[in-house]
Amino acid sequence: MSARILNKRQLAPEITLLDVEAPRIQRRWRAGQFIIIRPLEHSERIPLTIVDSCAERQSITMVIQAVGKTTREAVALEPGESLCDLVGPLGEPAEICTGERVLCMAGGVGVAELLPVARAYKEAGNTVVALCGARSDSYRILDEELRACCDELHWATDDGTFGFHGNVVQLLLSLAGPRSFAEGHVIGPIPMMKAAAEATREWGLKLHASLNPIMIDGTGMCGGCRVTVGGQVRFACVDGPCFDAHKVDFDEMTRRTRAYRDLEQIALQHDCRIGLGR
Ligand code: FES
Repeated sequence: MSARILNKRQLAPEITLLDVEAPRIQRRWRAGQFIIIRPLEHSERIPLTIVDSCAERQSITMVIQAVGKTTREAVALEPGESLCDLVGPLGEPAEICTGERVLCMAGGVGVAELLPVARAYKEAGNTVVALCGARSDSYRILDEELRACCDELHWATDDGTFGFHGNVVQLLLSLAGPRSFAEGHVIGPIPMMKAAAEATREWGLKLHASLNPIMIDGTGMCGGCRVTVGGQVRFACVDGPCFDAHKVDFDEMTRRTRAYRDLEQIALQHDCRIGLGR
C-alpha cells in the first residue's frame, strides 16, 4: 500500500526524518517494531524502525540514513509524494522491564531507533540512562527528544567535538560497571553492538540487541535475515529484531551483511533498466 509523505526534516548530513501517513500502523505499532518500505516501484525493499507516531495526523515517523541506492531514492522524495509500498508493523515489540535502572545505548542512526525504546522504558517506570554515539557534533540527532524521556543522556563523539571523546562503548566503561544497570538495550552498527556485548558479558546485565540484518520479505519466508543466537537459527524479522546480545553470533552476522557489498556498489553506479518493467 502506498503512503503519502507529510513531512521531511534533515537531522544531520545524510540522515533524514520522514513522517508518512499510515493510520493502521500508527494505531498498532509498539516500540522495537519495524516497517519495510519500497520507495519507488523499481526499488528494493528496506527495513526501517518505527521511531514515533502521531495520532492526530495518523502518521508514523522513520529516520533514514542515505547510504545506498534505495535509501537515496527514499530521501529524494518530497512531502506530497508517496512511498510506493509500506508494510508493518513487523517483528516483536521490545521487551520492557519495570522499575529498574536501565541502559539505552546507540550509535549513528541507531540513536533514532533507540528513541521509542527509551520512551517505553520511561513510561514503564524505569530510570533511563542513554549513551549515544556520533561521528561528530554535527551528526548528533534527536537530542531534545531523548532528553525529554531519559533521566540522563550522555554523548560520545569520535572526534571529541561534543561530550566524551571516543566511542560509545568507551563512554560506557568510563561511567559504569557491574551492577550499574539491571537491563539494557543496544542498537547501532554491528561492531558497536558486539563491543557492548563483550564489555558487559560479566556484568550480570540483561542486554537486548536490536539486530539489523539484510531483510527481503520480512515474513520469515526468504531466510535473508537469518542470525545465530545461542547456537540456534533465528529469523530477525519474525523472532526479533531484539535478541540477547550476549548470545548473538555477531561475526557471522557481519559476514552475511557483507555478502552483497560488491553488488550494492554496482547498483549505486549503474542505473539498470533491465527487468522490473523498465
Ligand atoms: S526477511 Fe525474509 S526471513 Fe526475515
